[in-house]
Amino acid sequence: MTTSASAMKTRCLITGAGGFIGQALASALLAQPEVSHLILTDTTAPAHPASSNASKENGKPPSVHLHAADLTDGKHIQWLCDQEFDCIYLLHGIMSGQAESNLELGLNVNIDSVRRILDQLREKKPGVRLVFTSSTAVYGPPPDPDSVFSELTAPDPRSSYGAQKHIAETLVNDYSRRGLIDGRIVRLPTVTVRPGKPTGAASSFASGIFREPLSGEQSVLPVSKDLDLWVCSPRTVVKNLLLAKNIPTEKYDRKSRIVNLPGITISVQQMLDALKAVGGEKALGLVHEKKDEATQRIVEGWPTRLDTTKARGLGFVSDGPFERTLKEYIEDYTEGQH
Ligand SMILES: NC(=O)c1ccc[n+]([C@@H]2O[C@H](COP(=O)([O-])OP(=O)(O)OC[C@H]3O[C@@H](n4cnc5c(N)ncnc54)[C@H](O)[C@@H]3O)[C@@H](O)[C@H]2O)c1
Repeated sequence: MTTSASAMKTRCLITGAGGFIGQALASALLAQPEVSHLILTDTTAPAHPASSNASKENGKPPSVHLHAADLTDGKHIQWLCDQEFDCIYLLHGIMSGQAESNLELGLNVNIDSVRRILDQLREKKPGVRLVFTSSTAVYGPPPDPDSVFSELTAPDPRSSYGAQKHIAETLVNDYSRRGLIDGRIVRLPTVTVRPGKPTGAASSFASGIFREPLSGEQSVLPVSKDLDLWVCSPRTVVKNLLLAKNIPTEKYDRKSRIVNLPGITISVQQMLDALKAVGGEKALGLVHEKKDEATQRIVEGWPTRLDTTKARGLGFVSDGPFERTLKEYIEDYTEGQH
C-alpha cells in the first residue's frame, strides 16, 4: 500500500502480543519494510515472533523488544507509554468466557487498562495512531436469522465481554473525535482456525472441530449443524490489521472510527463439509456431537450477517472460501513453519 504513512518508518507497539492474533500480527509486521521497531508486550514477555519468508527478504528487519507488563498496573502502563512508538495495537484483553465468569477481571483489563492507556497516550503521544480490536459481541441477537447488521446498528451487548468492548470502543472513538489520538476500531469476526489449545470462549469449538481432527484427535461439537457463524481466517485478519494502521486519517468519516471487518457467513454443516474435503472421512469421524445448551444460546445471540460496505470502502480485504482457510491453517500452523 503506498500511503504517506507507509512510506515513513514506523515504530509499533503491540499489547497482548503473546496471544493468538498478537503473535501472528507481530510476525507479519516483521516483514513490513516501513516498520523499524517492534515492541511486544504481554503479562509475560511474549515469544519472539516467527520470521516468515517475506520477513527474511526484508533487508533490515525491525528491532524487536519483548517486555512483560501487567496492564492492570498503572506503573507498567506509564512505563510502556514512555517507550518510543508512533503506532499502538491494543490487542490485550480478557475473552468472552472469562469476562463472563470474572466480572472484576474483565472490567480491569477490558475497560480500566484501556482508559489508563488512552490517558497516558493523550498526554505523552498526542495524535498517536492506535488500532483497537473490538468484536461483534457488542451487538445483541439478530431479530431474525437474515438480519444484516452495520456500523449504524445500535450495540445491545448481552455479555460482559460485549459490554466492555462497547465501552472501550466508545472511549477510543471519543478520544479520536477530540483529536487526542488517531484511533481505528476494528470489529473482528470469530477468527478461525486458532492454533494451540481449546480456550474458554464459547466460540472455541469453531476452531476445535478442525484443529483437533486434523491432528488425529477427537473433538466435540456443542451446537447444532444448522447454526450460522460470522468468521474470518487469521491471514485475512492480519492483513486487515496491517491495513488499519496505514489508512490515511482523512479517509475516515468524522462521525465514527468503528468498522466491521469483512468475514463470511458459514453454517456449522458447511464447516464440516470443508473439514471432510480437506481432511477426509477420517477427520470428520473424529467430530462428535454433544449439544451444550448454554453454548448454543450464546452463539445463537451473535450476528451472522454484516454489511461490510464501510470496510471495503476503506480498502479492507475480504475473506476467501473456507476450504482455503483450512489449507492455510495446515500450512501456517501444522507444517512447522510457525
Ligand atoms: N480471536 C478472535 O476470534 C477475536 C474476535 C473478536 C475480537 N478479538 C479481539 O482481538 C484481540 C486479540 O484476540 P486473541 O484471540 O489474540 O486473544 P488472546 O486471548 O489469544 O490474547 C489476548 C492477550 O491479552 C493478554 N492479557 C490479558 N490480560 C492482560 C493484562 N492484564 N496485561 C497485559 N496483557 C494481558 C493475554 O495474556 C493474552 O496473551 C482481543 O482484544 C480480542 O478481544 C478476537
